[in-house]
Amino acid sequence: MTALFPFDLPAASAVYATLMIVTFAIHLLAAQFLLGGSAYLAWRGLVAPAGDSVLRKLFVDWLPFAMGVTITLGVAPLLFVQILDQQGFYTANLLLFHRWMAVLPVLIVAFYLLYVQKGSTRIREHALFGRALPAVVFSCVAFVGFSWSENHLLSLDRGVWSSFYASARWFYPAPELLPRALMMLAASLPGLAIVATLLLRGRPQEERHAAATTLRGLLILGAVVAIGCGLWTGSATYREVRAASTPWLWLAGLGALTATVFGALHLARNPKLALLSWTVSLLGIGGAREARRWGALPTDTVVEHHERAWTVGGFGVFVFFAIVATVALAFLGRRVRTELRATVK
Ligand code: HEM
Repeated sequence: MTALFPFDLPAASAVYATLMIVTFAIHLLAAQFLLGGSAYLAWRGLVAPAGDSVLRKLFVDWLPFAMGVTITLGVAPLLFVQILDQQGFYTANLLLFHRWMAVLPVLIVAFYLLYVQKGSTRIREHALFGRALPAVVFSCVAFVGFSWSENHLLSLDRGVWSSFYASARWFYPAPELLPRALMMLAASLPGLAIVATLLLRGRPQEERHAAATTLRGLLILGAVVAIGCGLWTGSATYREVRAASTPWLWLAGLGALTATVFGALHLARNPKLALLSWTVSLLGIGGAREARRWGALPTDTVVEHHERAWTVGGFGVFVFFAIVATVALAFLGRRVRTELRATVK
């Protein structure tokens, strides 16, 4: 029996691909909260600007933190993807420097505006700024997510990428880009709904009750649109790497389906089960992405490169700090949760 991708690869490549899948899934969950939360605030700003609903308050409060977490959690997959695909990612991105660096000023503007939104009731309630500010924040966050999708698709398109860089073009309008970006946006809503439900635990019953129907609606809507877009783009794109990607696509689909059914029935009562199945789905997406990347890579050269990277050393230091960081984060998470519960009471 052939082992599941990436465990069928030479050891060094298998380790880097596995670390990429896991760290990418964690980054994506944080990005979903940020993307979904800013989309919700932009939509609320346009259709119902007056008043602070429970969810509006929650997102205004948590999005600046969520942005910091998303960026920090993006660093680990950024490191691994540069080892996995040095030419298509690292070298290529240096060549197209200003295009990808454009995400930095955009991120800075979004970060700053999130704090303005959180800090100033006057601006939040202003007739014009109250509407414009969340829309600008959402556009910035969506631009960054969109750029990552565009960058990823370009790195897979080995046939065009050198001529693309040589002609110094700025945008890569692959036919898959829009449906993929739409899928990523829709998929952010279930992630948002699940994390928001967890954040609301410990809040007064009436607050949780007021938010529950909207969160359930966002979860179902997002999952249905994301699964639809996934089937639309996925059916053609994964054909060439069917054997490697199929188990991961099943995992992604079943995880999403389970999270949706659980969420629709019991989101408020048991968000942890929905979170577990949603995480399985994100791991599935990560695995299918890596199977596809692997199918586009010049295998012999990259295996050699991974083996060389493996012998450079430092893996023990990485494992040590990964454990220290995980323990520290778990400890801080518990402290914050305890303090928040005490403040609410
Ligand atoms: C704050 C806004 C951000 C959002 C909304 C966001 C969202 C996303 C999304 C949706 C993807 C998947 C793209 C796809 O598969 O089509 C992605 C991939 C990725 N993101 Fe982020 N991201 C953000 C910031 C960052 C930052 C600041 C970093 C780095 C420090 C980062 C690192 C990555 C990496 C390495 C990937 C995988 C790239 C690849 O496989 O080609 N992200 N991000």
